[in-house]
Amino acid sequence: MWTNTVVVGLVGLLVIWLGNWIRRWRNPKCNGILPPGSMGFPLIGETLSLIIPSYSLDLHPFFKTRIQRYGTIFRTNIAARPAIISVDPEFNNFLLREEGRLVELWYLDTFSKIFTLEGESQVNAVGAVHKYLRRTVLNHFGIVSLREKLLPQLEQVVNKALSSWSAQDSVEIKQVASSLSLEFGAKQIFSYDAESSPTSITEALSRILNGLLSFPLNIPGTAYHQSLKDRNKLVSMLKGIVKERQNSPEFNQGDMLDQICMDREKEKFLSEDFIVYFIFAILFVTFESVSSVIAVAISMLSENPSVVEEMIAEQEAILKNRQNPNSSLTWDEYKSMTFTHNVINESLRMGNTAPGLLRRAIKDIPVKEFTIPAGWTIMMVTSAQHFSPNTFHNPLEFNPRRWKELDSTVTSNNFTPFGGGGRQCAGAEYSRVFMATFFHVLLTKYRWTKIRGNIFRNPILGFGKGVYIKFYKK
Ligand code: HEM
Repeated sequence: MWTNTVVVGLVGLLVIWLGNWIRRWRNPKCNGILPPGSMGFPLIGETLSLIIPSYSLDLHPFFKTRIQRYGTIFRTNIAARPAIISVDPEFNNFLLREEGRLVELWYLDTFSKIFTLEGESQVNAVGAVHKYLRRTVLNHFGIVSLREKLLPQLEQVVNKALSSWSAQDSVEIKQVASSLSLEFGAKQIFSYDAESSPTSITEALSRILNGLLSFPLNIPGTAYHQSLKDRNKLVSMLKGIVKERQNSPEFNQGDMLDQICMDREKEKFLSEDFIVYFIFAILFVTFESVSSVIAVAISMLSENPSVVEEMIAEQEAILKNRQNPNSSLTWDEYKSMTFTHNVINESLRMGNTAPGLLRRAIKDIPVKEFTIPAGWTIMMVTSAQHFSPNTFHNPLEFNPRRWKELDSTVTSNNFTPFGGGGRQCAGAEYSRVFMATFFHVLLTKYRWTKIRGNIFRNPILGFGKGVYIKFYKK
């Protein structure tokens, strides 16, 4: 009898504790008024609504419905973290300028664990370390390197890739563009040669990507678990490469890894693990970013033949104006491709490869009549501005010609595909040169048709079963 009473008592206590815990979950502590919103279900928050695919390139419904309900700044919980979502352009630009004072770079636990060693996250680098990383990337992928070294190399690899793609029945554009951009990037980073390497970094990175933005549940069978396993394999391969290079400095390749190894004397933070994770993060960016925009562009252009005609005219005019039509693409020619640049802008606008920029509040941040508590994650959904009808008339239409009329003062505040402030993308010009060179070779030597496939958003770009393209030599 008494055991029944104890059990009933314990259950009662558990119910009270659970009730309190759920109440605290729904109403987190705040030294002021929290922005409106919902914290979703205990533990999983609103993560599921955010990762449901949306079969349109438009802003993901997760954001659209909540903007309608709560306005441009609202609270939620994603991947077990309390978060504030902001689609307010002024507040976002303000936060980008307040880097290091009010906010610091921050990625969801899913990202952090994948790019982290023993709790020390490399993607969150600050101060002198951040300056070093930025300078190193710019040394190898910045304007001087592009103009003097990378542009002709890029033209060669694009020629080789398109020749191989056109020999096949069809190719999945995102996949082949990812290999192209990863292999070119990895060559600059550690002189990677896909043909002689025993490990395909393209395949490993594809699987790692699946785990990103998934729920961080590290048990066998989940995408996140598989992602961590693949991450470990790739990291041990990179460790081997770094060790080998350090043990044989005489094999100087002039790549980014050589520079980092030389800098170890004066930059004491450059431990072996640090170098490996730095290389890993840059590899990841080169793999995923440019290729997504190329895939969006090709898919959109396939349905807009008059835009393709205008691009071809521009690219053929470049050949006609040359003394030797077979000479390599020059920096001035790259700069002169006005309409191609418009197509790249329009593809960046619609592709929105970076769904949002993530930060963590260092201290309580007042905004309007609300307070964002210190420690909370803030997701600045800059991509929402790219679909604002106030700046981009009929925003869901792929219309590169709109850029002929857009005022640069309006776009400088409302078009931020490469972020802004002190953390603006260090690979922005490289990405633009990559895409322009790709289009130059494609439009002067090849044509293509889309066989099947579509792009969607979940909320990062998804390519479903793929977008298949048949390339033909002209
Ligand atoms: C279409 C292609 C790309 C897009 C749309 C893009 C977008 C971005 C964005 C939005 C940020 C800011 C992140 C933040 O503030 O949290 C960023 C940062 C960065 N990106 Fe890119 N990126 C692209 C390609 C690349 C490539 C190819 C590289 C490397 C070669 C690169 C290297 C970097 C680096 C190093 C940073 C950090 C800069 C810093 O913290 O100072 N990006 N990128």
